[in-house]
Amino acid sequence: MSQQASFPHSRLRRTRTHGWSRSMVRETHLSPSDLIWPLFITEGKGVEEPVAALPGVSRWSVDGIVERAREARDLGIPCLALFPNTAADKRSDDGKEALNPDNLMCRATRAVKDALGEDIGILTDVALDPYTSHGQDGLLDDKGYVANDRTLDMLTKQALNQANAGADIIAPSDMMDGRVGAIRDVLELAHHHNVQIMAYSAKYASAFYGPFRDAVGSGGLLKGDKKTYQMDPANSDEAIREIAFDIAEGADSIMVKPGLAYLDIIYRAKSQFNVPVFAYQVSGEYALIKVGAAAGVGDHDALMMEKLIAFKRAGCSGILTYFAADAARLLNG
Ligand code: PBG
Repeated sequence: MSQQASFPHSRLRRTRTHGWSRSMVRETHLSPSDLIWPLFITEGKGVEEPVAALPGVSRWSVDGIVERAREARDLGIPCLALFPNTAADKRSDDGKEALNPDNLMCRATRAVKDALGEDIGILTDVALDPYTSHGQDGLLDDKGYVANDRTLDMLTKQALNQANAGADIIAPSDMMDGRVGAIRDVLELAHHHNVQIMAYSAKYASAFYGPFRDAVGSGGLLKGDKKTYQMDPANSDEAIREIAFDIAEGADSIMVKPGLAYLDIIYRAKSQFNVPVFAYQVSGEYALIKVGAAAGVGDHDALMMEKLIAFKRAGCSGILTYFAADAARLLNG
């Protein structure tokens, strides 16, 4: 009786053996054009203030934002997301500085658009938290509850103010009901037909936003939490409902936030809707990688790239990430 050798005929390791072969069968790719770079703005000229809670991230005065915009353009990053650190004396209960045509956000938007025009997109965040003295995203009623419909009125005016300053993409992050439709109406009436809306549709009440709140200066002010408007991390069907409403109300693209702990939501969203899906790799996610790499958990760049490709694999068109410039530099070799 001859000896019957047993060989696996299918060997998935064959295509993994060589680098050239791995690159031939690679299913997902990351490029600088997948990245949106969030930047924090501060008052002054020639100012760079490192954000302690976000190693490697600074707040820049408007001139510095313009420099970062040129850097992004040269790296192939298509869009910036701007966030202001509003001076303490300009914060108020009603956050009305959000409506000032000369607020930091508008000045930075105008400066980048004047310098770079069509070469880069500007995404502006709609929510009142960088402007309120209480750190909540909307207007409070006498019980301290964020009042939905009165807040909508402020948000539509804030969005219009940003569009008038030259914003290309309005990104409501406030999680009020009905805000996408209300903002779309106001933009259309003002002839901003081609200003896009990227809705923070599935935005969770997350513990990973802490460093961001320090960066915009709202962390110390915030009393309580945002659980009456941001989503419960336990929910998935509800995210699909949020996304469906936002698309019906005119959103051009939708966002899932935070990113990595919510890859299942990204996957569901992309499977169910034919719209561009973006992830926000938020401040706490970024900081954990920075701190972990510095503590010897793993190689910084490898940790960064593995997380970024995971968003693409899950179905994202792009990622808002504080790593945008670092990752683009690496990708450009
Ligand atoms: C404002 C807003 C927040 C973030 C983006 N827009 C904070 C919050 O909702 O409290 C968080 C981004 C990050 O953590 O990087 N509403």
